[in-house]
Amino acid sequence: MIRQISLMTLVSVGFIAFNALAFNRTTYFRLTPSDFRHLVTASETLMMNNVSPAGTRKGTVLASPSTNNPNYYYMWVRDAALTMNVVQDRQALFDYVDISLLQQSEPGQVGLGEPKYMSDGSVFTGPWGRPQNDGPALRAITVIGLANRLIDEGNLAYVRSKLYDGKLPTHSLVKADLEYVAAHWQDPNFDLWEESLGQHLYTLLAQRKALQLGSALAKKLNDPQAASFYAAQAQAIDDSLTDFWDPSRGYLVGTIDQQVGPDHTSGLDVSVILAALHSTSGSESFGVTDDRVLATAYALEMAFRNTYRINQIPEFQNLGTAIGRYPEDWYDGYNAKQGVTLGNPWFLATNAYAELYYRANRQFRAQGSIHISALNKVFFEHLTALKGTTFNVGDVYYSGDAKFTAIVNALVTDGDRFLACVKFHANGDNLSEEFNRDTGYMQGAHDLTWSYASMITAVNARP
Ligand code: NOJ
Ligand code: NOJ
Repeated sequence: MIRQISLMTLVSVGFIAFNALAFNRTTYFRLTPSDFRHLVTASETLMMNNVSPAGTRKGTVLASPSTNNPNYYYMWVRDAALTMNVVQDRQALFDYVDISLLQQSEPGQVGLGEPKYMSDGSVFTGPWGRPQNDGPALRAITVIGLANRLIDEGNLAYVRSKLYDGKLPTHSLVKADLEYVAAHWQDPNFDLWEESLGQHLYTLLAQRKALQLGSALAKKLNDPQAASFYAAQAQAIDDSLTDFWDPSRGYLVGTIDQQVGPDHTSGLDVSVILAALHSTSGSESFGVTDDRVLATAYALEMAFRNTYRINQIPEFQNLGTAIGRYPEDWYDGYNAKQGVTLGNPWFLATNAYAELYYRANRQFRAQGSIHISALNKVFFEHLTALKGTTFNVGDVYYSGDAKFTAIVNALVTDGDRFLACVKFHANGDNLSEEFNRDTGYMQGAHDLTWSYASMITAVNARP
């Protein structure tokens, strides 16, 4: 046993030494403006390789081209919506609309809560965690964005025929999703990690956003009853969210009322951060400057510092903390077996921290003030450039104040560190799903589409 441990330690120390060498032992991996531009263009190309690739039905957004160990050669509703939300190409968006309409027309086992489809467009029928109700909400958010652009351009005919017909029963993509979301948001369902049955902050915030945007669209398209129904449901969701705040632990939990699923004792989950990014804008509740979100970001980052060995390696100290899904995670990118496998940091989660910090910078500057509260104080004090600074609860800093400037600048330099962490552990421009918690080497599905989408939104948010 002892020999085994020391052998394992030797092997991983070897890996780490190699990594550190390649890293030239520079103390801070500083990304240049041209690095940032390259990260976006390279990720765009690699992401688009997974959109309608040869051999798939047009409009397919593969989660990854990997066909075994793990098999990600499917179109997940969630991954596809998050990807198509950053795609500009009109034809690609129209193809996505068409395949989504086809998928909506297939009943499956749980209707629009079906999580994934085959590469020919048919529904996946094997056993899986279903329903996953974030899917229709995320798809609505993405497609409403397209609908609003088309309306601005005067292409009302397309919008009315394919996206929002204002009829019941409806044969249009967005209206069908909105009706489903409005009717089912209270149902227990599987989380974005496809493991836990319960109520999830990530899913509910996506549903709230879809219904808010849907209400505005319905109003624009002369469907006033739907507009007020969707707005009322969005408000009802909003009123239901108080239980996600755990006052005794001082952070937001990802899931409540969990009936099925793996150990989630800490309640900490990066899905709370993803929810702020994917489903809020401006100063909305649960947004990027909400002090509950910042308290959660801090608690989660500390948990991952303690959980992953790569976060404790001295040579990596100037890279941002490698972030995973949740501290108790067992899924190693291939299997999930309690006591056998262990979860790892994820690129999309680490990118999310960069995006959170960048967007918090922008939001604080737009607000023009930062209020120090008992909840956000530790978050500000942990920023690298502010080590040793103490903030007082109740203090307010305004733009122009030295402390305001120090905080917003520290958010950008620490945001950059998370991207430096990703760039360091990436294999060139390629991003898989995960990177090993001990060595930093990539593992899990290769060329994960969502990893690329998360890189693009992170860098684009950089002030
Ligand atoms: C595959 C799922 O997509 C992943 O989220 C999950 O952790 C594993 N299966 C284990 O259930
Ligand atoms: C596993 C992740 O947990 C889930 O969120 C994702 O949809 C699938 N992999 C496909 O990428």
